[in-house]
Amino acid sequence: MMWGDVTEDFTKALPKIELHAHLTGSISPECLHEIWTRKRSSSAGSQLEDPLVACRPEAEHHDILSFFPVFDKYIYNLCDDAESVAFATAQVLKDFEADGVKYLELRTTPRESLENGMTKDVYVQTVLDTIARHGKASTSTYLILSIDRRNTLQQAMDTVNLAIKYQQQGVVGIDLCGNPLKGDVTIFREAFELAKTHGLKITLHFAEVPQSSTDLELQTLLSYNPDRIGHVIHTTPDIESEISTRRLGLELCLSCNVHAKMLPEGKTQFSDHHFAKWYGGNCPIALCTDDVGIFGSSISNEYLLAASHFNLSSYDLWQLCRGAVDSIFGGEEEKKRLYGLLDEFQRVCDYAETAP
Ligand code: IMP
Ligand code: ZN
Repeated sequence: MMWGDVTEDFTKALPKIELHAHLTGSISPECLHEIWTRKRSSSAGSQLEDPLVACRPEAEHHDILSFFPVFDKYIYNLCDDAESVAFATAQVLKDFEADGVKYLELRTTPRESLENGMTKDVYVQTVLDTIARHGKASTSTYLILSIDRRNTLQQAMDTVNLAIKYQQQGVVGIDLCGNPLKGDVTIFREAFELAKTHGLKITLHFAEVPQSSTDLELQTLLSYNPDRIGHVIHTTPDIESEISTRRLGLELCLSCNVHAKMLPEGKTQFSDHHFAKWYGGNCPIALCTDDVGIFGSSISNEYLLAASHFNLSSYDLWQLCRGAVDSIFGGEEEKKRLYGLLDEFQRVCDYAETAP
């Protein structure tokens, strides 16, 4: 590998970290199709449309209104037992690994399907067992449990308690996600306090749409002391200055924001993305896929997009990647491992440049 033009080969080979990937949103349509085919003869499968048709018409056809029902009305009904959750998780891990991801924080909302014997506890165990079986030979994977904005405080507390129960098995943090047009985020204080008390890290979906970007909401979210925040689109200068002072890790999702038309003032171009505003500032930036199964853009493609729309060199991408390492939730040993991988990558590129 060598410095020079940013190519697909380069962004694939770059040792990347992925910090904002929803498990269910990361399942490829092909994998969903396989689950659908297997289940076709059973009652659950027979009522559902082929996921190759139902889940990805075209990434750019999804907006904030059409997006969330894909999960609630389709994928959750298809992946409604431990077997399909394990199968999908294993495939998601393979896909990230094949794309050159060396460190992965997957996030997922614990869910149940009692008629299939799947409690929320069984769901989390299934995901963790699959991660453990996959091993750490190439990619280290950790889990973040998501609180859905529609949850009650009790449901949120249950999620944090599950995270505490499975902390030793690789649960590293708590997320707040879900449809930003729904829910009242002010009710979750106790849940995030409990998480912090137990040493869990916190990441929050932040300022995704104007309706979820009121001063009250954003100040409330910041008062939960997040370690990182995701999306960070509809912010005011005051909020930005607070984020910058705290040096919060930013999980930025180019394709998701552009395809789902989430940028302010009807902007639609990658070059309009607020990546440009934050790049080079105080906050570590992690480029992230959010839902690669829906938006169809791998993390190596997100690096390609950043390079082409913000004029970044291959060395800039390497630095961007390195800068995000400090905001991982997996601890100091993992940081050391990642710095080692990135330094090795740099050595190889430097060598190729000087070789006769
Ligand atoms: P899961 O938590 O593994 O089931 O992943 C799918 C869930 O992640 C969805 O039902 C949403 O609640 C959440 N999610 C995925 N993408 C987004 C996003 O862009 N904003 C907020 N929530 C999201
Ligand atoms: Zn997200």
